Amino acid sequence: MVVKEFEKRILCIGAGYVGGPTMAMIAAKCPQYEVTIVDINTARIDAWQTDDLPIYEPGLLEVVKQVRDKNLFFSTEIDKNIKKADIIFVSVNTPTKTYGEGAGKASDLQFLEKTARNIISAAESDKIIVEKSTLPVRTAHAMERILNTNDKNLHFDILSNPEFLAEGSAIADLENPDRVLIGSRETESGIKARNEVVGIYANWIPREKIITSNLWSAELSKLVANAFLAQRISSINSISALCEKTEANITEISNAIGTDSRIGSKFLNASVGFGGSCFKKDILNLVYICESYGLNEVAKYWESVVEINDYQEKRFVKNMITLMFNTISEKKIALFGFAFKANTGDTRESPAIYVARHLVNEHAKLTITDPKAIGNAKEDLKPYLKEDISSIQFTENPYEAAKDAHAIAILTEWDEYRDLDYKKIFGSMEKPAFIFDGRDILDHEKLFKIGFNVSAIGKPLMKHF
Ligand SMILES: NC(=O)c1ccc[n+]([C@@H]2O[C@H](COP(=O)([O-])OP(=O)(O)OC[C@H]3O[C@@H](n4cnc5c(N)ncnc54)[C@H](O)[C@@H]3O)[C@@H](O)[C@H]2O)c1
Repeated sequence: MVVKEFEKRILCIGAGYVGGPTMAMIAAKCPQYEVTIVDINTARIDAWQTDDLPIYEPGLLEVVKQVRDKNLFFSTEIDKNIKKADIIFVSVNTPTKTYGEGAGKASDLQFLEKTARNIISAAESDKIIVEKSTLPVRTAHAMERILNTNDKNLHFDILSNPEFLAEGSAIADLENPDRVLIGSRETESGIKARNEVVGIYANWIPREKIITSNLWSAELSKLVANAFLAQRISSINSISALCEKTEANITEISNAIGTDSRIGSKFLNASVGFGGSCFKKDILNLVYICESYGLNEVAKYWESVVEINDYQEKRFVKNMITLMFNTISEKKIALFGFAFKANTGDTRESPAIYVARHLVNEHAKLTITDPKAIGNAKEDLKPYLKEDISSIQFTENPYEAAKDAHAIAILTEWDEYRDLDYKKIFGSMEKPAFIFDGRDILDHEKLFKIGFNVSAIGKPLMKHF
């Protein structure tokens, strides 16, 4: 048997929402490279080897199937794979610290540091290490210190290549990104390493879209990109509160300001709030970094983006309770959507978690429906399920969820919720029936005509009483 010689051996440590799709794309675009993804989580690695992947992402399964066991491999054998890799992408999770110094704001770098120590103990040759995880600015400095003070006389070049994909459109984003950013030390060895990684992406991405920079700019750009994106959402959400007081309409405002080419139309949809594993964590990390450099005004400015998001979630729940005659005790409420956005099963930091918890605290009976996120929703609400199993039901069928309900709250902008038979749904509900559109995706006039009382973010209230 002739063993195929690959041009490069690429390893990714961390088989999550970033590691899985990015490496699948590299493998698909670069058949000359061997790409291996390792993880400490055996169940995840097992799932990547089936057709029931551990994460839902449109188009991902097709890409994985195209390359799996050809030049894309999944494994839990971390040391063995570190040994043979030329380039190692580190894509482990970097959650907000929950303990000690910086708890609640700083990044918890324990998984990153463990990975670095794993690399030193297993490596037998020089390697390029690429930070793919989102990290505080200057983390590469610590990585260099840990990795390059080894007693094996090995040299590691550390690069920063933050990932800008958005969940729900990861495959399209990876195939045709706005840009790829690669930061390095501006030394001979750093630039050589950077060119190696530029060479990987250049297999399918036009060279002018591959931006290079110094290490610190690359690390910080990722935090700043997420802070700017989240800030737009908080800005429009803050104005949605004012619209509800003044009969101005937030969709009309988004349209009016978004057509200004200096502002642009994206990320101007008002909603119950942003979620996802990154925005809040990355902004709080930015806040923490600013505070640690004594930049308190800068820290306060960015912290307010998170505060407005918390306010928006609270406002949404408060409004539901007030409109439903100040009590929702024993009332059935259907939550349409639990994922933090459409086209993903990811529920991390989803506003739906906050909404569900608070409604249950008010003794409402919830039925949660979502096409992809019910498994994660059950995990998120586990403590509540234990207390009173009957207070939360789950179904993939929105019609069943709405049956006998007093209210529906739209929490995820799944396309399928736009085109349901709301006449039929209205007929099956308790009266007066309410719809709280937390994503502004429904035809509110039409719903009002059917008989619903309609409360939507940033829109004039429509009620029959
Ligand atoms: N999810 C996104 O949309 C997104 C986008 C851009 C950047 N990021 C960043 O990318 C990083 C990864 O995010 P994610 O969403 O893929 O996280 P994730 O939790 O889905 O995946 C991380 C994986 O790393 C594994 N891991 C942790 N420590 C390990 C170790 N020592 N050895 C081997 N495996 C280990 C975990 O088991 C997990 O499977 C984070 O820093 C995140 O901020 C995420």
